[in-house]
Amino acid sequence: MQLSYLGINVERLDAQWEAILFDVLGLEARPREEGAPLQLRVDDRHHRITLYSTGENSTAYVGWEADTQAEFDQVLRGLREQGVACEEADARLCEERAVMRMVYFEGPDGVRTELAFGGVVDGQPFKPSRAISGFNTGEQGLGHILMASADPAATVQWYQDKLGFRVSDYIHWDEARATFLHCNPRHHSLAIMNPCFGTGAGELNHLMLQARSIDDVGRGYDEVQRRGIPLALTLGKHTNDHMTSFYMMTPGGFAIEYGYGGRTIEDEEDWEVQFYNAPKLWGHNLGKAQD
Ligand SMILES: [Fe+2]
Repeated sequence: MQLSYLGINVERLDAQWEAILFDVLGLEARPREEGAPLQLRVDDRHHRITLYSTGENSTAYVGWEADTQAEFDQVLRGLREQGVACEEADARLCEERAVMRMVYFEGPDGVRTELAFGGVVDGQPFKPSRAISGFNTGEQGLGHILMASADPAATVQWYQDKLGFRVSDYIHWDEARATFLHCNPRHHSLAIMNPCFGTGAGELNHLMLQARSIDDVGRGYDEVQRRGIPLALTLGKHTNDHMTSFYMMTPGGFAIEYGYGGRTIEDEEDWEVQFYNAPKLWGHNLGKAQD
């Protein structure tokens, strides 16, 4: 299982959005007609992120992808047995998501959640808009997301029961109570916390994209400072996943974490679930890096 794709509604796609997506992150925009959603590539997949200019900021959908048809069938069967009403996507919707097969249903906190299989690998290579070595995706998927929930304990249980996620660890700091969950070797693909730091229930706090090189992140950090892009957190390193990263505040009301070097969970048996009292080993201070 992996975080396959994300759909995000945004108030409007302005110059700050473009600076973050293209000048800092180096994503590739698929050609589009005027007014059409912005589909973004991060790797050889057709696209993994779609921004809809809808006049409001919200999470449109979160797409999880099974590794095999058998896993897709098994997870779907489990969802239905547990009373989750799943709708099968038609050919048009599958084409829009660029997957072979997809079902959608309501996840915790009313978040539209999708289960897919067969994400389209594009015939053309990923052409980043900035010279970067690329993103760590593959079996680890797009990256990770942190969402707030009105009932975090129930939501964590939901992802364990319905999609087979496992707990990686926990961090409690300030007013935040966060649980980190994995579904492949990536330390966490999903984290769930109580509503805090301005993130309400069902809202996205941040999306993390992982670079293949620390130099990509460092040069991105230079771009952020050159362009005056607001930072949610300065460069720092996390206690639990050991990611070295910084967080940009997007105009969409959530942050994008750009990181390098997160550790992985290769062996479930050997993994020890820890409870941390701080999210950072160093750095990750609030606010702008310059000033
Ligand atoms: Fe993160």
